[in-house]
Amino acid sequence: MDSRMERPSAYIPRDRRQALFDGVNMPDRVVGAALFADISGFTPLTESLLQDLGPQRGAEELSRQLNLVYDALIAQLHRFGGSVISFSGDAITCWIDGDDGFRATACAFAMQVAMEQFTQIKTPSGKTISLAMKTAVAAGSARRFLIGNPSIQKIDVLAGSLLDELASGEKYANKGEVVLNKTVLDMLGDTVTVDRWIGEEGNGRFGIINPITQSVFQTPWPELPPDSIPEDEVRTWLLPAIYERLRSGRGEFLAELRPAVALFLRFSGIDYDQDSDAAYKLDKFIQGVQTILAKYESNLLQLTIGDKGSNLYAAFGAPLAHEDDAIRAVSAALELSDFSEQLDFINAVEIGISRGRLRTGAYGGSMRRTYGVLGDDVNLAARLMQLAQPGEILVSARVWSGAKDAFTWENRPDTIIKGKSEPVPVYKVEAHFQPAAIRLQEPNYTLPMVGRESEIAQIKAVFQPVLKGKGQILHISGEAGIGKSRLVAEIVHHATELKINGLGGECQSYGTKSSYLVWQRIWQGFFNLPTEQSRDEQLIHLEKELTQINPSFAARMPILSPVINLQIPDNDLTHSFDAKLRKSSLESMLVDCLRAKTEHTPMMLVLEDCHWIDPLSLELLDVLGRGIADRPILLVIVTRALQAELSQGLSISQLPHYARIHLSEFTAAEAKQLINLKLAHFLGTEEQIPKAFVKGIIKRADGNPFYIEELLNYLDSQGIDPRKIQGLNQVELPTSLHSLILSRIDQLTESQKST
Ligand SMILES: Nc1ncnc2c1ncn2[C@@H]1O[C@H](COP(=O)(O)OP(=O)(O)OP(=O)(O)O)[C@@H](O)[C@H]1O
Ligand SMILES: [Mg+2]
Repeated sequence: MDSRMERPSAYIPRDRRQALFDGVNMPDRVVGAALFADISGFTPLTESLLQDLGPQRGAEELSRQLNLVYDALIAQLHRFGGSVISFSGDAITCWIDGDDGFRATACAFAMQVAMEQFTQIKTPSGKTISLAMKTAVAAGSARRFLIGNPSIQKIDVLAGSLLDELASGEKYANKGEVVLNKTVLDMLGDTVTVDRWIGEEGNGRFGIINPITQSVFQTPWPELPPDSIPEDEVRTWLLPAIYERLRSGRGEFLAELRPAVALFLRFSGIDYDQDSDAAYKLDKFIQGVQTILAKYESNLLQLTIGDKGSNLYAAFGAPLAHEDDAIRAVSAALELSDFSEQLDFINAVEIGISRGRLRTGAYGGSMRRTYGVLGDDVNLAARLMQLAQPGEILVSARVWSGAKDAFTWENRPDTIIKGKSEPVPVYKVEAHFQPAAIRLQEPNYTLPMVGRESEIAQIKAVFQPVLKGKGQILHISGEAGIGKSRLVAEIVHHATELKINGLGGECQSYGTKSSYLVWQRIWQGFFNLPTEQSRDEQLIHLEKELTQINPSFAARMPILSPVINLQIPDNDLTHSFDAKLRKSSLESMLVDCLRAKTEHTPMMLVLEDCHWIDPLSLELLDVLGRGIADRPILLVIVTRALQAELSQGLSISQLPHYARIHLSEFTAAEAKQLINLKLAHFLGTEEQIPKAFVKGIIKRADGNPFYIEELLNYLDSQGIDPRKIQGLNQVELPTSLHSLILSRIDQLTESQKST
């Protein structure tokens, strides 16, 4: 591959690069011409190439084609002294400083001519795909801001009413056309002829013009020496994951289709033309947004500023996939909405989220590049944002299905959305789902338990010493989807039979840095906190509980704050505690509380998904694990086997009262039983299923019950009858499986980063 592609400085706008090289600041009030160019046809090209050539070669060919097109366009722009300020979808917003519109107009036509070579792209299967472009030019004054958190990504922004004008003009143009605003038309006078007038009389008027014949003085950028901008500066312009990829020599993220989640947020409240604090305010807002997104390993990909409302676009699942990207996106949306409310200069925001197979990867020309996540579902997210009222978060059906259990929802009637032939289901997010009962309850599984007889016998045996007052630690391990949580349900079932109460918490994949996350629900339940009531009422209750356990504990109440997720102001005693004392004092107090309450009553604690446990939670687990040996407590922890680091860090595994149950794949007989149960559920009969089908599923699912269930769910949702199916291998993977598999691949690749 062309090594110029991998020049990271191409992620910086050309004029900004020049200013950095010259060591000068760019002014934040500028006069010149803005040019907008929107290319159509990349979506069908993507589909064709990936279909014809497969994911690997298709991606390479697609990346090559995208680069060719952008290179051709950007070469023209740079000849006229212009710069690509930002990418939005397959469009670029450019700036030619100091231009009255003449050069920008000439440039727009030069770009149209350059596009002609791409009107007939032949795909390997013989199809012809035609790419086309529309362009708009507006001249006048604008603002230019440099914002963003430098440790995440700096963002160059062009703002002001001129951009709104550009956007309205662009809507009038068809493929192949150039549209000019009133200022430029007046300026150019007889130099151009208008083919068609559009818009309102006065300044809202635009003209589609005929090609200009007069030659224009070109002002190309001087050649910059390679590495002309210090590495430390360049890296602040790339998303950390992208920079890391380039630096480690693994090349760019090539174009590929992968499941991802798109979030659009509309915000308003800043006056970009008049307010002298506009840059400060925008920066404060965007840095806050970047910080929230980073927590979920999501990225801010686009920022479009307009006076009537600006929007930003963030993607989840690309470049790095997570199995819970839908949940991450909705959690982030709630946080973003809260954060905007806290800023007095930002009005209530509107958010739309959607999920689907999207085109992802680095794209652009060798002289100017970006990373993008594009496709139909991105447009759907933008439409949902437009549909939302201030303060609302609206999501598509696929987001809802991936996040439904984690939040509460308001159902909306199916809604007509531009670009969709049928009304689509829309869901409004209300809040995080707070389970009413913190106590462990037997989850309801539709299907009966399959296999695992020896494990269940082992579990029953572990309860014996517990009932005699000898605490036990039971560690359930196994790969994703193997049936750990299903087995925990059996443990809870058994505990219920023995009248043992249980408390449980779950780690979250985005929670590895959130202190005490997994413990919060457990301790809230342990102290019987009325979490639906006010903070003051909870505090009164907590004080009572603590005093009952040990009268001296109430004075140390504030240090419990992080494990019960409740703000408790320091008192005279705790005020003087440093971090170290706070932690040790918290740990020993919790051990004492647990021991006190279980002197005569057995108890079970379950910590799910501990491969995502945060460091403080893990240390608390260690301390508690040691403290229960002479108490009737069963401590159950669940981890995926993949995370070997954890079992090393899990010092309780050395304790005599620790035992581990490792779950392996289903045997063929167990897999067959699960398939039959599942199909009986779908078909309502216990019909004989062809052996070849059962074999095919087992092979594709590797004896993993989650894979088996998801494959069968998917076939069912596609209306495919298992009794008639042929060529099971050709069936595409369902999104849930695809995401899970991708998240593993991404994590493995990232952990192999050059060090
Ligand atoms: N022994 C079993 N009998 C019946 N169904 C099972 C069994 N084991 C797993 N399943 C089904 O397979 C699916 C995945 O199992 P489960 O959620 O327990 O996996 P897990 O190991 O907890 O995965 P993760 O690491 O992703 O949390 C569930 O829908 C569950 O009902
Ligand atoms: Mg699980």
